[in-house]
Amino acid sequence: MSFPPGPRLPRLVQAARVTAEPYAWMAKRRERYGDVFSSRFPFFGRVVYVADPDLIKQVFTGTPTVFHAGEANATVLGDALGEHSLLTLDEGRHLSQRKLLLPPFHGQSVRRYAEVMAATAAAEVASWPVGTPFALRPRMQAITLEVILRAVFGVRDDERMDLFRERIPPLGELNTALDFLPLMQRDLGGFSKAARFRRALAAVDELIYGEIADRRDMLRPDGDRDDVLSLLLSARHEDGAPMTDVELRDELLTLLTAGHETTATGLSWAFERLLRTPRVLERLLDSLDEDEYLDAVVKETLRLRPVVADVGRKLTSAIELGGWRLPAGTLVLPAIAAVHVRPDLYPEPHEFRPERFLDDGAESYAWLPFGGGVRRCIGASFAQVEMRVVLREVLSRVRLRAASERPERPKIKHVTVVPSRDCQVVVEAHLTGAASRARSSVASA
Ligand code: HEM
Repeated sequence: MSFPPGPRLPRLVQAARVTAEPYAWMAKRRERYGDVFSSRFPFFGRVVYVADPDLIKQVFTGTPTVFHAGEANATVLGDALGEHSLLTLDEGRHLSQRKLLLPPFHGQSVRRYAEVMAATAAAEVASWPVGTPFALRPRMQAITLEVILRAVFGVRDDERMDLFRERIPPLGELNTALDFLPLMQRDLGGFSKAARFRRALAAVDELIYGEIADRRDMLRPDGDRDDVLSLLLSARHEDGAPMTDVELRDELLTLLTAGHETTATGLSWAFERLLRTPRVLERLLDSLDEDEYLDAVVKETLRLRPVVADVGRKLTSAIELGGWRLPAGTLVLPAIAAVHVRPDLYPEPHEFRPERFLDDGAESYAWLPFGGGVRRCIGASFAQVEMRVVLREVLSRVRLRAASERPERPKIKHVTVVPSRDCQVVVEAHLTGAASRARSSVASA
């Protein structure tokens, strides 16, 4: 069986290259080897990247019994999310959880969370110092965490909220790019990383189970609650059974893991690009009250700086793809970052130009920041609403500039691609009233 062409470099060297330049590495390999190419990495072995929209369509719409996303995700995410996690399940069990989770994340449904998103962003921005450079990504994480806790978990108790805020960040910090290596996952007790991760996870689980128990204990359902947990508590499987506590815990943790840092990173990239592209920032500030250009900015950010550079499907049996016969066990990776900079799909692909999304919208298999098929991100609408709302709140409340003219390099952090300096910015002024319609500066320090 012959595999598609690809670099012959040692696995470690290939891993080092992709980590150093996640987007450029993928795009250059496509230019050199074509739309289907192989690579070899430590732990994952040989993988096959696909960078053609039609072939990616075949992968995304292929039968879920052959294309296992859950298995592929589990290799990088491990088992912390639990046996019911939407991210790591496949086939029938995946479908049955997905049916329960989809309704609260429907486009119309998530608009109801815009208010909590705006209030959270406004409160956060009010605390930003003037004139001192600071990293924006952690501030965006604080917003997106608060939004998940309020809109998805429905936490209202202040004390529990504080404990969540305290206990969740260490979970992310204990997850690094090397964690999928089996050695890093071994719990060697004491202060080994895996042991610290397990303890941090148990501390968060305690809070999640506490929230679930309190909400089940409520004598009558609280009619004014529209958070995702409330909707899941009343959801029923096809046989009429409600979700168990463990199922609810696994899905809440999955939503937190999949939805918090990703959205914060997408927002950080939006600011990183906007503050270095004066023309676009000007036009956005002039049309901040409308959704159209703002939405195009969000789409263009996720095209040029996709938070997740590729997604995986593990084959359970051999398939034909693009003239290649790939054996069972192969990890097939739709190469999002490579498709997004194809000059035939996006002229002058490295330019940050939201206008490209004004007329045509995005073609489904050429614009893939949220993956596709039956595994497409269920938080795609939620994330885009949140990005629009937070961008609008921030830009109308502070005049920002980049701390340095130098663009921030894309860097891999666990499974996402983040700005190398976490998006360093300076607040030039807090804006009030009419002034809030004024400009964010694009000059650099
Ligand atoms: C800009 C922000 C986000 C990006 C870039 C993003 C990206 C992705 C991608 C690429 C996938 C994999 C899709 C595939 O394999 O085809 C995914 C899956 C998923 N995402 Fe998101 N996501 C974001 C925000 C969110 C939010 C806000 C939530 C929920 C609150 C969420 C929940 C999920 C879940 C549950 C899955 C698993 C779906 C399944 O396997 O059926 N994501 N996301």
